[in-house]
Amino acid sequence: MLSGKTILVGVTGGIAAYKICELIRNFKKNGANVKVVCTPNALNFVTKLTLQNLSQNEVYIQEFDVKEWKPEHISLADEADVMVIAPATANTISKIANGYADNLLTSIACAYNKKMIIAPAMNCNMWNNQVIKENLSKLKSRGIEILEPESGFLACGYLGKGRLCSLDKIYNSVVEALSFSEILKDKKVIITSGGTIEDIDPVRYISNYSSGKMGFAIANAAKSMGADVVLITTKDFEAPYKIIKVKSAIEMQNALNDEFESTDIVIMAAAVADYRIKNYSENKMKKSSDDTLTLEFIKNPDILKELCEKKSNQIIVGFCAESENLLENAKEKISKKGCDFLVANDISRNDIGFASDDNEVTILSGSGECKKFSKASKATIARQILEYINE
Ligand code: CTP
Repeated sequence: MLSGKTILVGVTGGIAAYKICELIRNFKKNGANVKVVCTPNALNFVTKLTLQNLSQNEVYIQEFDVKEWKPEHISLADEADVMVIAPATANTISKIANGYADNLLTSIACAYNKKMIIAPAMNCNMWNNQVIKENLSKLKSRGIEILEPESGFLACGYLGKGRLCSLDKIYNSVVEALSFSEILKDKKVIITSGGTIEDIDPVRYISNYSSGKMGFAIANAAKSMGADVVLITTKDFEAPYKIIKVKSAIEMQNALNDEFESTDIVIMAAAVADYRIKNYSENKMKKSSDDTLTLEFIKNPDILKELCEKKSNQIIVGFCAESENLLENAKEKISKKGCDFLVANDISRNDIGFASDDNEVTILSGSGECKKFSKASKATIARQILEYINE
């Protein structure tokens, strides 16, 4: 599965370093060429010999242990198809975020311009430290994937968030990163995500449970495929492409209209409220003596339908969230909206969809074809959707 690929594994000085031995073994078992770079402190937790035997390659630690004319930090960066740093300590994260290059691993990270995945592991108070949060934000906004630690019993004796995420998660992210090809190069892709927020008064609103994660995963996948990405979202995301933060359906429509003409693909993953409040109250509404309250709503524009009506060469993809009769409703919706594709989501299941990291979808095309993508991470589903619509 990984044959022909070179994976650069960076190991730093945290107790979770011992777990990485198993990950390296898995990469090797699946045919990858694995190069390991350690910070000097990593060797307090795992031996060079172990890493060397498992990776079946030399383990790199010192910067000036030069054997060839090309500096090692450059040749290792050039050679790798993907770089994964696990476990990543607070120290290494902060150095990379701020451009330090004071050991071989941080120097490689500084010179590295392809896909990088970082799996942090540390004490929960360090994880919650504002400086570490800011440094992680910097890395995310540069397109580095952060695999957040899990909560549980920590080696330092604390109970909290900071434990290295599962090795399966790291493995799958690496496989996912290696699956991309630049099929969307020179294409502009707009994605919408999150549930719109319709204000009632200055303190209240109506919205829905959409987390925006599916749209964000599609935006990330499109970026990895070489697209010029614009994400229009109601949620807070950090990424190395243009993000337009909106609130209501009307704001979302305005942002889309501004970007639409120059775009090649529009993917409407947002959960747009069908109605907004008719008479927004400038002041906080007061409780009355009545036992019931009636609010009046007016219809929001059907953004997707209106885009389909005015489109020229754009490919337009809608989403549909259904809690029953998924396929029948989806078939009716694609013809009603007039979009090229419709991704149908079953929201009655709680193991997929909304806040989950996984999804399972069926994609319908305007010509009547139907393709099911089995349950997988939203990142994998995102790539599959983009590959399918681009075929
Ligand atoms: N959509 C939109 N504008 C709206 C409502 C929905 O652009 N006012 C888009 C969504 O972004 C999604 C698709 O239409 O891509 C389908 O959304 P969904 O909520 O499933 O369907 P609705 O048209 O709202 O129909 P219903 O709620 O009756 O199922």
